[in-house]
Amino acid sequence: MRRFLELLAAASLSAALAGGALAQSVNSVPAGGASTTTPPAKVAPEDLPPGATPGAGPGGIQGQNIFEVKPEVKRDASSEPGYLDQTNGQRNRVQPGNNAPMWRGVQRGMEGYSSLPKSEAPEAGVLIQAPVAYPGTRYVTAGEAWREVRNRWLIPYGGALLVIALLALAIFYFVKGPLGHEIGDGPRRIERFTPFERAAHWANAIAFVCLGISGIVMAFGKFFLLPVIGQTLFGYLTYLLKNLHNFAGPLFAVSLVIIFLTFVRDNLPQKGDLRWLLHFGGMLSGKELPSHRFNAGEKVVFWGGVLLLGAIVVASGLVMDKLIPGLVYERRTMQLAHMVHNVSTVLMLVMFFGHIYIGTIGMRGAYTAMRRGTVDDAWAREHHAYWYEDIQAGRVPAQRSKPLIAADGPADNVRPA
Ligand code: HEM
Repeated sequence: MRRFLELLAAASLSAALAGGALAQSVNSVPAGGASTTTPPAKVAPEDLPPGATPGAGPGGIQGQNIFEVKPEVKRDASSEPGYLDQTNGQRNRVQPGNNAPMWRGVQRGMEGYSSLPKSEAPEAGVLIQAPVAYPGTRYVTAGEAWREVRNRWLIPYGGALLVIALLALAIFYFVKGPLGHEIGDGPRRIERFTPFERAAHWANAIAFVCLGISGIVMAFGKFFLLPVIGQTLFGYLTYLLKNLHNFAGPLFAVSLVIIFLTFVRDNLPQKGDLRWLLHFGGMLSGKELPSHRFNAGEKVVFWGGVLLLGAIVVASGLVMDKLIPGLVYERRTMQLAHMVHNVSTVLMLVMFFGHIYIGTIGMRGAYTAMRRGTVDDAWAREHHAYWYEDIQAGRVPAQRSKPLIAADGPADNVRPA
């Protein structure tokens, strides 16, 4: 029995140590075996420890009432007056290691120190360009804004415009077919383009095609070429085309100036141009309206495509090639030049898609005129009636260049009548 009582006492003690109201109510175990409980002593609520439950007896381990626990409000460094205006030094005094003011400044385009000379690297101290908002972009750092212009506007809408232009030409071709009558084998005795004009034109056209293809692959290749040829080949190809683009650009610029000077005289506005334009040259009705050496459509391409767009494309391209002397080449300069170049080249491509179409499959005899330099009477009469009249009347010479001397047979640029 005694042994039992000892065991009971030990059990009560461990229960008391484990905490809880039960432990508090077990006060004693009298000798003789019967245990008694006494009601817990009442404790005034104001004497309770914070969070303790009223009514619980004194002593023992008390859990806090979670609903009455209030977070401890400590004064934080961020509640310092002028916290957000602190310099990096001030911030480090109240929050050591916090460099937020410095990085915020960096993101606003703040200039830091760089040992590189300003003349050579004007922006070396600026890690991130200051924020800017271009049309259609958010107010974000300039690099990101440029990226948004490129990826959200130039690539999708520029690409769509090129595809639409090609589709429109394809539809026109399948609906109307090539313009003009079949070219007979008649004598080609009217010189339309001198050898010099043709050389200038083809130099320019070859450079243009190189630039167009390489530009399209650089801008849109990852959508239509990369999935087909894979990353490695696409990487090498684009690298090659990028270098080709950089070299063909200056060649194009020079030949464009020559083209402009060579053809400007016959592209000046003349009688009949407005009528030609208003009726779209009669191309839809099937009866071509009379025009001088170049019709109003060609003149639009000349002034809008060769001069205006050509000048913008070349100027922005030369900026990106860093070939304009005296210009300060900063990131902003490059971004602006890139956006201008992209817009103007897409427009120029659309215009010259039309030119190339008419110059090849779109009009019978046009390509041969530029390849050989000569046309026959029927072609001249059908497509450039005023010019033909001038030739017939002797106001414009039928042969302008000196005939090439051929070793055997007639000269290549003159076809015997
Ligand atoms: C593969 C590309 C090209 C082809 C197949 C092509 C074809 C032709 C043809 C056939 C003509 C003669 C049209 C006529 O007899 O009236 C012509 C004229 C002309 N081409 Fe091209 N061309 C190409 C690219 C270019 C480019 C890139 C430019 C300038 C950026 C250009 C500027 C001119 C000019 C100025 C004329 C004279 C007519 C005018 O003043 O509008 N061509 N082209």
